[in-house]
Amino acid sequence: MNLFDVYPLFNIEIVKGKGCKVWDKEGNEYLDLYGGHAVISVGHSHPVYVKAITEQVNRLGFYSNSVINSLQQTLADKLGKASGYDDYALFLINTGAEANENALKLASFHNGRKRVIAFKKSFHGRTSAAVRVTDNPAIIAPVNEGLPVTYLPFNDAALVEAELRKGDVSSVIIEGIQGVGGIRMPSDEFMQSLRGLCTQYDVCLIVDEIQSGYGRSGKFFAHQYAGIRPDMITVAKGIANGFPMAALLISPLFKPAYGMLGTTFGGNHLACAAATAVLDIMEEEKLIDNVNRVGSFLMEELRRLPGIKELRGRGLMIGIEFEEPVKEIRRRLLFEEKVFTGVAGTSTIRLLPPLCLSMEEATDFLNRFGKLL
Ligand SMILES: Cc1ncc(COP(=O)(O)O)c(C=O)c1O
Repeated sequence: MNLFDVYPLFNIEIVKGKGCKVWDKEGNEYLDLYGGHAVISVGHSHPVYVKAITEQVNRLGFYSNSVINSLQQTLADKLGKASGYDDYALFLINTGAEANENALKLASFHNGRKRVIAFKKSFHGRTSAAVRVTDNPAIIAPVNEGLPVTYLPFNDAALVEAELRKGDVSSVIIEGIQGVGGIRMPSDEFMQSLRGLCTQYDVCLIVDEIQSGYGRSGKFFAHQYAGIRPDMITVAKGIANGFPMAALLISPLFKPAYGMLGTTFGGNHLACAAATAVLDIMEEEKLIDNVNRVGSFLMEELRRLPGIKELRGRGLMIGIEFEEPVKEIRRRLLFEEKVFTGVAGTSTIRLLPPLCLSMEEATDFLNRFGKLL
């Protein structure tokens, strides 16, 4: 059987990782400024993480959501404390798209409406409703087209209000910082206006923190820069450092009912052990402080490099936009300088390193990158 060929692959096989470094099967060492697409939060193969998963799988890997799993409550307690959302409820699933599906669904159950406001250049996943609220017609199949969606530009509250006033909007969904769209930030004032308008028109505000959350922006959630509290927050990627897991944080406004949401694998024992270890390591190693320190240093130093059109981002979520396409420079970074980075569109390099990136590793990256400019 062949693999269904949907990924354009680099001819590299990564077989080992440690901290912010990975190795291919020929033994070449790479600096990881990509974190496997913003997934590696506490570093590859962190010993505390490895121990937690190993011990858990030796005890019990999985049992269903029909019996008590106290690891879920342990995780909820720690996540509530770390994020400042102790009064919200937690629903655990497996992928980012699934988190957004459930958020959109819960909003619609809550207010009985259908239409969703999403934003230009948004990315929210590849399944049913999640892909429909993604601003990329190329990945929306006819079966996804049923949900009515209006895509609006960032930072224009008047346009949002004109839509909400029509009375048929169920939710507004927005990324804390757009990732796939090129590391684009909604202004804090716009986020505050969205919060106010959603409350005024009884519309649910969903903030997708799947890429920008879990400390990556320098706060636990990127929307916390604006001082707002959404009705629902979706998280995935960094939550379990590579173990497939996602979550939905739900405000007390929403009342649960048996069977309303559900999943077979979501919140399983192994995933909870992985996610709890991540929060323990983040606290113990003060990783959010590290994000702020190393992120500011990177931004400052990147500003000195030639040829860069625009730098965007917060913390360790950085977009470096050039006038020209970045395909070649990214290829040379990978094959000549042995550095993994991401892209957005054709002209932006995305830096999404593990949150434990050290000053030395950041300097090492800047030297390797500078050589190619
Ligand atoms: C902001 C955002 N939302 C949703 C998703 C979808 O997550 P997943 O691939 O885990 O379904 C992604 C993935 O890149 C993302 O960046």
